[in-house]
Amino acid sequence: MASQIMGFQPILLFLHIVFMLQFSNASQLSLLNTFRSVIKQQGNHTTWAVLVAGSNGYFNYRHQADVCHAYQILKKGGLKDENIIVFMYDDIANNSYNPRPGVIINSPEGSDVYRGVPKDYTGKHVTAENFFAVLLGNKTGVKGGSRKVVASKPEDKIFVFYSDHGSPGVLGMPNYPYIFADDFIQVLKTKHASGTYDEMVIYLESCESGSMFEGLLPKDLNIYVTTAANRYENSWATYCPDTTTPPPPEFHTCLGDLYSVSWMEDSESEDLTVETLKQQYLKVKKRTSNNNTSEGSHVMQYGTLSISNKTVSIFQGSGSKEVFTDRFPKFDSMGVINQRDADLYSMWQKYKRSTTTEMQQKEELLKKIKEITAHRTHLDRSVSLIRRYLLGGRHGPVRREGSALVDDWGCLKSMVRTFERHCGSLTQYGMKHTRTFADLCNSGVTNKAMDGAAKKTCGWFKMGQWDPEIVGYSS
Ligand SMILES: *[C@@H]1O[C@H](CO)[C@@H](O)[C@H](O)[C@H]1NC(C)=O
Ligand SMILES: *[C@@H]1O[C@H](CO)[C@@H](O)[C@H](O)[C@H]1NC(C)=O
Ligand SMILES: *[C@@H]1O[C@H](CO)[C@@H](O)[C@H](O)[C@H]1NC(C)=O
Ligand SMILES: *[C@@H]1O[C@H](CO)[C@@H](O)[C@H](O)[C@H]1NC(C)=O
Ligand SMILES: *[C@@H]1O[C@H](CO)[C@@H](O)[C@H](O)[C@H]1NC(C)=O
Ligand SMILES: *[C@@H]1O[C@H](CO)[C@@H](O)[C@H](O)[C@H]1NC(C)=O
Repeated sequence: MASQIMGFQPILLFLHIVFMLQFSNASQLSLLNTFRSVIKQQGNHTTWAVLVAGSNGYFNYRHQADVCHAYQILKKGGLKDENIIVFMYDDIANNSYNPRPGVIINSPEGSDVYRGVPKDYTGKHVTAENFFAVLLGNKTGVKGGSRKVVASKPEDKIFVFYSDHGSPGVLGMPNYPYIFADDFIQVLKTKHASGTYDEMVIYLESCESGSMFEGLLPKDLNIYVTTAANRYENSWATYCPDTTTPPPPEFHTCLGDLYSVSWMEDSESEDLTVETLKQQYLKVKKRTSNNNTSEGSHVMQYGTLSISNKTVSIFQGSGSKEVFTDRFPKFDSMGVINQRDADLYSMWQKYKRSTTTEMQQKEELLKKIKEITAHRTHLDRSVSLIRRYLLGGRHGPVRREGSALVDDWGCLKSMVRTFERHCGSLTQYGMKHTRTFADLCNSGVTNKAMDGAAKKTCGWFKMGQWDPEIVGYSS
């Protein structure tokens, strides 16, 4: 349906033209404008979608589950596979930990969302570089994968959904480097300048997701964004074991994320040709606040807010109300786990439940949990020490509401690299410290000073599996 003329009535248009021609020449310009806006509104457009799961590993099950689920909604809504581009590592369905081999679910009673999902960019091809090239429609810029790109026309609509870990100014990717806000915004500006879309909607689930756009996204790019969290807070995993909204008992991992399942379960229970983006935003905001408790986050909106008057169907298609229709209103309050702890939490759940016949696997899990915990402690301590060396007890300069995390993004990126060179990979967990690195930049600390402080703090550190020369740098 996406590329058809919806409800277009040539006869009415003809009568309209005849009627307009009765009037003076002055009205001819207005006639032309009317004609243009009719064409625009009636939508001889194609809707494109880019779906990105930014993590890998079984204990991050939920991000790929979110993205697969989003694909099913768009597909049911009438978007064509040739217009939906999916980035997912694709290590979940066949994972030896998966209790339902070949199947992925995104809610406790949900059906399989994995079936039929196009595998455009998987494994090592899930990169920031490919994501940018795909958005820009640059076929020669992509490396590997299906080479499918957003080859959009000026009248087309684009829907982008990303789910993963994030941190101030950064989105994770399963392959290094990560996505930094300045680069992402630059890609959006370039896309806009190329005149190859009419309107774009971006839904973003990650910790501190607001920081990707606050003070950065111009209002005149025809891009409307909602984010799972504001610039300061983490987002939440949901349908986790041992919570009030658990997955089926055989699962020891979280199935989804609060903001993501909120918009998707809403899209599956509403008539999207009637519901506006704004209505969806308000409902998702309410549900993601988790009854206004500290176990929820503040859904935010950025960019060209007037687009939120449009119906959801323009960007997600108009799916039939099936499958999960009764799910949305059921849970006012959701059991959640902090996005940053959810993978360790899931590993721990798996460890707890492993039987004695799985002794070897159990030992390995415990070893891994201990290593990860130790590295996290090392990262937190090191950043805190470096901060003390370089800033003393001072805070960085306060950034006004509505201003970007940092002015000099090059500084931020080199702070991250310098830290990793001496102290090891930040990992998705340690990226939460980008706010400290931004404070250093905003305070005028030089990279040379950072180098000295990091060397002093981590000179003794044995990199082992956290060596950025082997696993890659975050920036
Ligand atoms: C709609 O788009 C198709 C394909 O691009 C084109 O052939 C057709 O002329 C367009 N129709 C109108 C009314 O613009
Ligand atoms: C998963 O297993 C099925 C059946 O063995 C196979 O067809 C498919 O290619 C596998 N997928 C991945 C991503 O390994
Ligand atoms: C596409 O990507 C390639 C490789 O990154 C680059 O050299 C080229 O300039 C890009 N083309 C356009 C039109 O942006
Ligand atoms: C949370 O608080 C806001 C404003 O304080 C209110 O409008 C909203 O209805 C509350 N949500 C819930 C679920 O109680
Ligand atoms: C569209 O949204 C803008 C900004 O939110 C609002 O001012 C305007 O009245 C809305 N227009 C319509 C037609 O609803
Ligand atoms: C939501 O919060 C209110 C007031 O704090 C409380 O009375 C109510 O039971 C909560 N609802 C749920 C579903 O937890």
